[in-house]
Amino acid sequence: MSKQFDVIVIGGGPGGYVAAIRAAQLGKNVACIDEWKNDKGGPAPGGTCTNVGCIPSKALLQSSEHFEHANHHFADHGISAKDIKIDVAKMIGRKDAVVKQNNDGILYLFKKNKVSFFHGRGSFVKAVDGGYEIKVAGATEETLVGNQIIVATGSNARALPGVPFDEVNVLSNDGALRIGAVPKKLALIGSGVIGLEMGSVWRRLGAEVTILEGLPTFLGAVDEQIAKEAKKAFDKQGLKIELGVKVGEVKTGKKGVSIAYTNAKGEAQQLDADKLIVSIGRVPNTIGLNAEAVGLQLGERGEIVVDGDCKTNLPGVWAVGDVVRGPMLAHKAEEEGVAVAERIAGQHGHVNFNTIPWVIYTSPEIAWVGRTEQQLKADGVKYKAGTFPFLANGRARALGDTTGMVKFLADAATDEILGVHIVGPMASELIAEAVVAMEFKASAEDIARICHAHPSLSEATKEAALAVDKRTLNF
Ligand code: FAD
Ligand code: NAI
Repeated sequence: MSKQFDVIVIGGGPGGYVAAIRAAQLGKNVACIDEWKNDKGGPAPGGTCTNVGCIPSKALLQSSEHFEHANHHFADHGISAKDIKIDVAKMIGRKDAVVKQNNDGILYLFKKNKVSFFHGRGSFVKAVDGGYEIKVAGATEETLVGNQIIVATGSNARALPGVPFDEVNVLSNDGALRIGAVPKKLALIGSGVIGLEMGSVWRRLGAEVTILEGLPTFLGAVDEQIAKEAKKAFDKQGLKIELGVKVGEVKTGKKGVSIAYTNAKGEAQQLDADKLIVSIGRVPNTIGLNAEAVGLQLGERGEIVVDGDCKTNLPGVWAVGDVVRGPMLAHKAEEEGVAVAERIAGQHGHVNFNTIPWVIYTSPEIAWVGRTEQQLKADGVKYKAGTFPFLANGRARALGDTTGMVKFLADAATDEILGVHIVGPMASELIAEAVVAMEFKASAEDIARICHAHPSLSEATKEAALAVDKRTLNF
């Protein structure tokens, strides 16, 4: 006997579980299917983000930052701490507990919102009437029928061609979050978001870290001035980043990994390391969905093709998050999930791609929203720029972290904010003000005229807005 639902969501990551909750809030009878298993084989909803992404990486970044502070910064405050050690097993155990709290939280939210959860793999099957049903293969098999289907099956780490992840020597994000002891030498390929975050964790804990990056520019998508400032800070920390390399053969053995590559000058090089993390991007995941059998259209990268409303080519089938086009970010997936649930309920859900914030949780943190200076130049937009350094911010001095700056880009004629870029302490939190401002189409002058608490890092935001009009008060 098949079970009937108004909405069936395949995938319980940030895109899927949030879509399921929102659809249930809007009065729909909702099922959410997710196949992720915890260590005991039980359900672990939350997807990549909760299990091997956003949450565990931030837990390890926090632990390693405490360690770095105890080692290098406590003394500045007159605190002496001797014989500081890191218990990696305990750190990983704490991270696992944080993940479990989040898994349990989602199961609780499903109950609270009366979402029926199914643990197993969901796949499309052709029904006798020519339509389709969703088969769930888990501990038991179930067949679900739904008026509307939302696919939110996420993404997987991209492997180097011919170098599969063994999660012992060659690690994806999964293995990178469960290294059992601090490696002496750690190599990473790809100095994107994961490379920088994971590289930072293990460098802080004492590993000698080298990141090999294929592109000649560092963080090409980031505003150049901000990327330069960040690179300076990483160099100072001893995070070695080699740009413009071409990776060749990767050999693994009992002693670890050996990577042959040519450097930017075209010279043959070899990097030996105990472990290698490959962080060269992610690929949309439709494995096991049986998409082809029902004619669900996939694009060149294997992504599910959707229109601006997240509708696929099949009537009543939607797709959101990493499995479709656009940035692979948890908050983007969530916004799409909510918008689709609202569209299904006859409302007008919307996602504004121009105001999706990006954050890299390194130290200094890097965060931005809107366009970069190089993009504005390329688009031929006339703009004004204003920057304010944290060095001139009282709270940053009190914190003992004056790296970086806030940068505003505003339209030369209308003063509308076109982009805000931050490198420095708590950039991840500061960027929220810029997102709100841009959503409300604020001008730099609007921010400059708003009272910001003193002393706070947010005053650097106000001052950068003032800098657009060349009238900073504290610099
Ligand atoms: P996913 O989270 O991948 O969830 C998909 C779910 O669907 C999974 O649980 C999967 O098991 C399940 N599934 C797949 N196929 C089926 C099927 N056929 N049947 C049943 N279930 C299925 N983003 C941020 O915004 N901030 C961060 O700080 C951040 N940090 C990250 C750190 C790392 C190391 C990584 C790898 C990613 C990070 N991301 C971050 C990206 C973020 O994790 C993704 O953008 C987000 O998880 C995408 O959500 P999703 O719902 O589309 O897919
Ligand atoms: P990425 O796209 O951020 O970076 C990949 C890097 O690898 C790029 O710099 C690219 O030039 C380089 N590269 C690609 N192929 C290469 C090769 N063969 N040799 C050398 N360098 C190569 O991808 P990453 O870091 O794997 O992360 C995947 C995605 O996960 C991110 O784009 C982001 O969407 C998400 N994420 C978000 C986080 C956040 O929001 N804080 C944290 C971590 C991941």
